Amino acid sequence: MLNRIPSFFREKCGVRAPSRSVSVTFVMMVCLMAGSAMAQGTASPYAFHNNLMPEPAHLEVGHGHFFLPAGLTATTDKFHNARLDNAIHRAMEQLKQQTGVEVSTTASHGTSGDAAFVVSVDGPGEAVQGVHENESYQLEVTPQGIHLHAATVVGAMWGLQTLLQLVQNDGTQYFLPAVRIQDQPLYPWRGLMIDCSRHFVPVNKIKQIIRGMAAVKLNVLHWHLSDDQGFRMQSKVFPLLTKDGSDGQFYTQAQAREIVAYARARGIRVVPEFDMPGHGSSWMVGYPQLASAKGPFHIQDRFGVFDPVMDPTRESTYRFLNKFIGEMVTIFPDAYFHIGGDENNGVEWSHNPRIQAFMKAHHLKDTGALQAYFNRRVLQILSKYHKHMIGWDEVLVPGLPKSVAIQSWRGYKSLAKAAREGHDGILSSGYYLDHMAPASAYYKVNPIPEGSTLTPTQRKRILGGEACMWSEYVDGKTIDSRIWPRAAAVAERLWSPQSVDNVNDMYRRLGVESVRLEALGLTQISQEDASLREMAGTQQIEPLRVLAETMEPVSWGERANYSSEHKITTHAPLDHWVDALRPDPPFRHRFEVMVNEYLNAPRVEKAKSLELTKMFVRWEDAEPGVLRLMDHSPLLAQAKARPGQLAQLGRVGLAALSYLSSGETAPAGWKAEQLKVIESTEAPVALTQFDMLEPLRKMVEAVPESDAGQTK
Ligand code: ACM
Repeated sequence: MLNRIPSFFREKCGVRAPSRSVSVTFVMMVCLMAGSAMAQGTASPYAFHNNLMPEPAHLEVGHGHFFLPAGLTATTDKFHNARLDNAIHRAMEQLKQQTGVEVSTTASHGTSGDAAFVVSVDGPGEAVQGVHENESYQLEVTPQGIHLHAATVVGAMWGLQTLLQLVQNDGTQYFLPAVRIQDQPLYPWRGLMIDCSRHFVPVNKIKQIIRGMAAVKLNVLHWHLSDDQGFRMQSKVFPLLTKDGSDGQFYTQAQAREIVAYARARGIRVVPEFDMPGHGSSWMVGYPQLASAKGPFHIQDRFGVFDPVMDPTRESTYRFLNKFIGEMVTIFPDAYFHIGGDENNGVEWSHNPRIQAFMKAHHLKDTGALQAYFNRRVLQILSKYHKHMIGWDEVLVPGLPKSVAIQSWRGYKSLAKAAREGHDGILSSGYYLDHMAPASAYYKVNPIPEGSTLTPTQRKRILGGEACMWSEYVDGKTIDSRIWPRAAAVAERLWSPQSVDNVNDMYRRLGVESVRLEALGLTQISQEDASLREMAGTQQIEPLRVLAETMEPVSWGERANYSSEHKITTHAPLDHWVDALRPDPPFRHRFEVMVNEYLNAPRVEKAKSLELTKMFVRWEDAEPGVLRLMDHSPLLAQAKARPGQLAQLGRVGLAALSYLSSGETAPAGWKAEQLKVIESTEAPVALTQFDMLEPLRKMVEAVPESDAGQTK
């Protein structure tokens, strides 16, 4: 039995709980262990380390631990089916890989008896996993064994993921700390949207991403399958959609079914999106009769918003869509069907006299009203196939039937408006991974922000959110580092209580999670070095790594501007310096923390000072080595200005350290000079920027400067 204890232990002990969701029992245990560890002068190897991501809703840490024995077998003592058996098999296989302990990968079935690992599942859950599937689970680990209970197979899958994240070791053996977890998600819709139109993402990569999603309990793959740059889903009824509307890269129906099954096996729904009526070029290359203008049409090889839009005035458009949707619903069983609906510029509708006459005859006052008419017609088709319609927030216009769900990409306001008007909705504004923002920025975004004035009923309509991976500047090789590990921060925001909001602790756990994700086959860490080696043509890339960790890609907006100015197309290889670098590289946050800790007590923090000194020296020393590599690589040479700048920044850091650590005062004008150096390195080079200028600036600002002799 795990006993609750009064909160005064917290104050008495003076140990800070690592997370607000961790119970006071944990604090008591830490107190007790800290007491005995202090007596011995060592930390116990059995102390609980919270490496869970997302953090569970409730966690109590007990006493002791369960060593993983060879031959450990999971026993299902209630319901089981092939989906559960396979999930257990995968989890045990992973446990075996992770620990080298030869656990059994085949579940046994029957009464729990004295089994050390019992999985009790009440039933299969919904035949087609729905938005309100019961995803909760309870996981208890005691020194005697593991007990996982869930109402559904999906809940059990999430419990198994948590179990894998609990594994610790004492340097000799692997064990699970004694815990009791009662967990369920904050939001039922926790998605990742992948745009496979701008750049095709191969089937195997989609499967790897699904594995990553399952690891962090994301449960919706929103599959953006058509856009101006390519139609990526095979239709046997309309074969020209991919024959003419793609570059030959698309998913066959068999592959799409395989993905749907692969995702379902991991507790993940697949919501397909076919963008209409705008973002529609690829529909019209093979089927120009769908269009509102004459054509001819071609798939776009640039990015942005284009004119081609379906003709909503012709009955033939709806007959086409009826047949197409009728075919797609045999592949995608999910209750939701995404129709896009975003960024229709209305140009072709305004320029077509026949469409204008239709609008007049039907009292449709503008192109927005015409699009609403189109949406209603498509909704009728979807309803016939028992599908819920979901669209980007442009579809939210007066008169939109309440059954339509809204995906907000333009701001929280439209989501709140939708909820007030009776629509379900999900948030993506603030979760655009292609914007290259740091994980901390996404982490702060709540589908229902603090201070929201929505009523409880309206709040219930906000189902969750989706991280979005638009693929203008992403392909199968680079997509991992653009999604991971940042999507795990979104996953936590959508799963864990809002009180789990400690950014530093999130980054600590994100670092652990990133390593676990790589073990699943994702490459967000390793691909950077692989790309640098490819560009350098050698394995000796140490100095280049010093530079790379201090740099990150510019924002999506800056890259889009560059792309438009330089007429960059979908054919441009994504093998440049910017493509090799990771957004929000781990160094960025680590450096920020290091500097903050140092600045708290610069004359006392000798270890921090030494660490920073070594780092700044490395920045200085990297220059000649990087330049040598750049001399033999035109791709690397795009960033030729950077090694010299890094060396300069290293010298700024060393000088600041010297003043701060000694307490000496810098001569008048010193700060301005250093800040000028920092400023001179700010401008993007080869679409990349330094990731550490702000903390460095803070160090310079902290140096006391003499005002003697200052002249005006
Ligand atoms: C969108 O970003 N146009 C949905």
